[in-house]
Amino acid sequence: MYRVLLIGQGGREHAMAWKLAQSNRLEKLFIAPGNPGTAAFGENIAVAANDFEALKKITLERKINLIVVGPEEPLVNGIADYFAAGDAVNAAPVIGPCQRGAQLEGSKDFAKNFMQRYGIPTARYRTVTAATIADGEQFLDELQAPYVLKADGLAAGKGVLIIHSRDEAKQQLRNMLQGLFGAAGSKVVIEEFLQGIELSAFILTDGKNYKLLPEAKDYKRIGDNDAGLNTGGMGAVSPAPFATPAFLQKVEQRIIQPTIAGLQQEGITYKGFLFFGLMNVKGNPFVIEYNVRMGDPETEVVLPRLQSDLLDLFDGVACGSLDTKTCAIAPATAVAVVCVSGGYPGTYGKGYPVTGLQDVKGSIVFHAGTALQQDTLVTAGGRVLAVTSLAEDLPAARKKSYGAVAAIHFQDMYFRRDIGLDCLT
Ligand code: AMP
Ligand code: GLY
Repeated sequence: MYRVLLIGQGGREHAMAWKLAQSNRLEKLFIAPGNPGTAAFGENIAVAANDFEALKKITLERKINLIVVGPEEPLVNGIADYFAAGDAVNAAPVIGPCQRGAQLEGSKDFAKNFMQRYGIPTARYRTVTAATIADGEQFLDELQAPYVLKADGLAAGKGVLIIHSRDEAKQQLRNMLQGLFGAAGSKVVIEEFLQGIELSAFILTDGKNYKLLPEAKDYKRIGDNDAGLNTGGMGAVSPAPFATPAFLQKVEQRIIQPTIAGLQQEGITYKGFLFFGLMNVKGNPFVIEYNVRMGDPETEVVLPRLQSDLLDLFDGVACGSLDTKTCAIAPATAVAVVCVSGGYPGTYGKGYPVTGLQDVKGSIVFHAGTALQQDTLVTAGGRVLAVTSLAEDLPAARKKSYGAVAAIHFQDMYFRRDIGLDCLT
């Protein structure tokens, strides 16, 4: 039986808590720090995801024997190595890669180099520092507009610029190297722009074996028809109708399998989720980015389609026996609509009472940014809720999710009305 510590506090972690709670291998779930949604499935403990010492203390006190890491930051900061280095008697296995593996997300330059070394299809690129800015300008001269500039390090989802004019790209390259995104931009990756349809693919791996999880399409822009600023994700659907079996086979053969083989070749122990941000360019997959965690809100459509026991799969990851586990996927369609606080991704208000959740029937409301003030549920973030429905097809799932969203209220609530619409054929 497992006593699990789940680290994180968003919609992704609420969905994981919801799924883990269905396992008959779960003795008790703790979530650090969790949110009012996760509290329904376990005990929230007010410790931050990056406070390794406090997490270790909880692990010992609560006799935790499995740690599941939701967000990327603790992974990039080495949480898996921290726990692996602990007293063997107390060491709890971590679902999440070691620090070197987490570089696939923590350093875009590392990820691009890795892909180049193992022949994994990705956009052409050049990595530039303040000392090699002239090379960067020359590379921009070789490319066609638009130009893609990426801060090398973690920049809370804000480190990517897509720029139409070459002069402006050169100016922004200088700005980034001078600290536009802080230390994350002391190296900049310049990339060729790939034209196509984006798709998120996910695996769970024990370092040797992997299970392909359901793919998802994320809606990143704030406005309908993909207008406006980039966000953390305004909604998701799974399956994505353009992810045909033939396309997914290419993803496995050209991207997933060489990635696992490359990690082994480098001596990197990778146990956890790996998220492939893909571009479908005329039927061929290219990697836009790796993330070393699940997506949010993608998790909120991926896990509702997973029929197998997530904790049993984690057991396979921890023990290196994932090949003995089953990973069954429901053929149904899941749609998640994210309700945000008006103004997001810019400035927005917090502390608004959330009402109507008791009227939601047949959909799941995952909490992304909520808090309890006395006994009142209030908004506490830009992305507040993700409303997921599972149905036999996309129109039915959309109808259910939008019906549920109509029952929910908070001041300045905003959501996209076109989640999944482009996937209807
Ligand atoms: P990332 O943070 O790497 O996911 O980049 C943010 C977004 O920028 C991606 O979701 C894509 O929509 C876009 N993007 C990044 N790199 C490229 C590229 N090489 N070509 C086209 N679009 C890109
Ligand atoms: N929804 C995109 C991400 O989690 O990175």
